[in-house]
Amino acid sequence: MKLSHSGIGGGLTNIEFNAFYNDVAKALDDNGVKSTEKYQVLVFVNSLRSEIVEN
Ligand code: HEM
Repeated sequence: MKLSHSGIGGGLTNIEFNAFYNDVAKALDDNGVKSTEKYQVLVFVNSLRSEIVEN
């Protein structure tokens, strides 16, 4: 996962990952996903943060 993302601006930052995370949260809200399922998705997304963020 790090290798896939390491070429993007020298590695993704936490700020960039947060923008992605917030967009996922909004997409789930906009599509009426209930909060239990929404947080299951967000917990999973966040569990991959350390494999993607380098800076
Ligand atoms: C949980 C979050 C994420 C997951 C699971 C994920 C997963 C992946 C995977 C598996 C690939 C490789 C695809 C392939 O080569 O077939 C990839 C590539 C890529 N990801 Fe992500 N990604 C995530 C977040 C992000 C974010 C936040 C960004 C940008 C802000 C991003 C931008 C990209 C780009 C541009 C590529 C293509 C890199 C290249 O081929 O040069 N990803 N991602």
